[in-house]
Amino acid sequence: MPTDHARETVEPRHGVTDRGSTAVAHPNIALIKYWGKRDEELIIPYVDSLSMTLDVFPTTTTVRLTPGAGGDTVTLDGAPAQGEPRQRVIAFLDLVRELAGRAEPAAVTTRNAVPTGAGLASSASGFAALAVAAAAAYGLALDDTALSRLARRGSASASRSIFGGFALCHAGQGVGAAADHSSYAEPVPVPDFDPALVVALVNAGPKAVSSRTAMRHTVETSPLYPAWAMSSKGDLADMREALDRGDLDAVGEIAERNAFGMHATMLAARPAVRYLSPATVAVLDGVLQLRRDGTPAYATMDAGPNVKVLCRPADAAQVAETVLAAAPGCSVLTARRGPGARLRMRNEP
Ligand code: DP6
Repeated sequence: MPTDHARETVEPRHGVTDRGSTAVAHPNIALIKYWGKRDEELIIPYVDSLSMTLDVFPTTTTVRLTPGAGGDTVTLDGAPAQGEPRQRVIAFLDLVRELAGRAEPAAVTTRNAVPTGAGLASSASGFAALAVAAAAAYGLALDDTALSRLARRGSASASRSIFGGFALCHAGQGVGAAADHSSYAEPVPVPDFDPALVVALVNAGPKAVSSRTAMRHTVETSPLYPAWAMSSKGDLADMREALDRGDLDAVGEIAERNAFGMHATMLAARPAVRYLSPATVAVLDGVLQLRRDGTPAYATMDAGPNVKVLCRPADAAQVAETVLAAAPGCSVLTARRGPGARLRMRNEP
């Protein structure tokens, strides 16, 4: 039985050394998608979302306080971060400093084992790791709920990567402080459901339009957005029952319809946002063929051309083979449910 919810409590100064505090977090893939914000500044979603945290592509982030330095430095995959990614990290540090009542600048170093910005949830693992590392570095004692709320301020999907296994992010109620307080993720215990997720990397390059920009544009211009947001409530209720039953076919069908619905809202935006490429469609055809041939396999896609295929672990090799035959240029990897974000302890390599 998976034990991904057994996450140790984070002590504020635990894991902090003179080399800073280091946290590791994994991306998550939403089976019920978050798409659209009702508050852009506080990053409050319009809809609840539900995801599975993966055991691949971790992000490792170190935050080291640098009193006396002129400002923050941000290093991303070995190079100084520029532009928006840098600004988002600094704005996040400002928030942590405000919460901690402290002012020291920091040096942030991040390594992604996943191509950054390619629609593989690097912002989810990135801000979950940053929330855990920065909270520890600035001496904030936060429980998992508070860490999830904090991670949400970086990227709403990051709120879910605080937890391992399956997690539900609440869109929250009210406005302002009430919305901020009530929007966070929590674990969804699903002890008897441990599927595989075959990740088809159709294109690992950065996407043309960020999910942040695309979802704002969708909310503002797509006539289909309200209908999808409404239907997503039913999808979530159905998904929870399907997860409780450990029913892979139902989980897959609901995840697939929810993802296609999200992409439909984008296609109906004015002008359209289209992430799905010919290779994406070829993989989707392969998934359909697998089902026709009797193998349960279901697709989900985020803000990029890559496809994630939910299936039984025993079928993962066959699914990967089918995906490769459908889109010969892509790379394929099989993920399972992974752990929540955590501090790396002093003696760990
Ligand atoms: C399609 O969490 O990256 O992956 O909150 O603006 O940073 P921001 O967006 P982000 O969006 C993820 C959207 C998605 C669906 C999902 O993960 O739920």
